[in-house]
Amino acid sequence: MAGRADLSNGSGGPTVVRRAAELSARRADWRRAGERIALVATMGGIHDGHLALVKKARALADRTIVSLYVNPRQFAPGEDLARYPRDEAGDRARLAGVDLLFAPSDAEIFGEGFATTVTVDGVTEGLCGPERPGHFGGVATVVAKLLLMVLPDFALFGEKDYQQLLMVRRLVADLAIPVDIVNVPTVREADGLACSSRNAFLVETDRAIAVRLNQVLGEIVRRLEAREASVAEALAWGRAELEGAGFSRLDYLSLCDAETLAPLGALEGPARILAAVRLGSLRLIDNMPVAPPKS
Ligand code: PAJ
Repeated sequence: MAGRADLSNGSGGPTVVRRAAELSARRADWRRAGERIALVATMGGIHDGHLALVKKARALADRTIVSLYVNPRQFAPGEDLARYPRDEAGDRARLAGVDLLFAPSDAEIFGEGFATTVTVDGVTEGLCGPERPGHFGGVATVVAKLLLMVLPDFALFGEKDYQQLLMVRRLVADLAIPVDIVNVPTVREADGLACSSRNAFLVETDRAIAVRLNQVLGEIVRRLEAREASVAEALAWGRAELEGAGFSRLDYLSLCDAETLAPLGALEGPARILAAVRLGSLRLIDNMPVAPPKS
């Protein structure tokens, strides 16, 4: 075991902890010293989006913990669990300034006899919910467990996964988990494509198609905010654009209330435009804020 500890805790990256008991001991030391702790939960494949969460975490707290756990319970049947990117050494090297990388095994998170599923209704019912059966329950369960294992002061979540972010806010409020949830805006690549661990799977031809997703969303936002189009007109235009762009399928394109995710027929308050498309076996999601009219 000493060899393994040396390997995972050499210079150039955060200390790696695999066991909940060791994690608790370290966080108790930090707590005793009066230090504030932030958690960035990830499934690895660390990219600039994750690093924006880390940067915000470091600005808010004295200690930053990143969790790296590819949660099997949030992959719906037939999804890409087996080929999800896994490169712990590469991820660790990218996490400069992080104090601790919590990289548990499946047994450490979902040990024998594990029988609990956390279900959040409401915000999970539309958009990605029906397309990905079991997904949000799997996310809610692992996020609840990670938050209770780490007990951070802050937990950072990206607006890239907007429905997930709202679900986590609801979960934490409903179960009175004592943590501040902090949003971080979506980080994009140079061409506007939202950073994602799955972008590595995009071949060049697909990439030209993929980039249309953020372009079309951006244009819908512009048309709505400029009052150039009604919601129905802007959505019809966007649907036609996405359907003609070369995606294999448009799962949804929807203008929703920014808090409840209820679909909107008119732009009256803070809103969000959200879309999901398929490109071969890949599924891409994106969303953007739409400002209400200044009356
Ligand atoms: P993962 O996809 O690794 O994302 C980890 C965190 O990074 C999430 O909060 C996500 O919203 C954020 N993120 C991803 N891409 C981003 C981008 N381009 N800009 C800003 N933030 C971005 O989301 C998950 O993992 C899992 O569902 C998890 C919460 C870890 C539970 O298993």
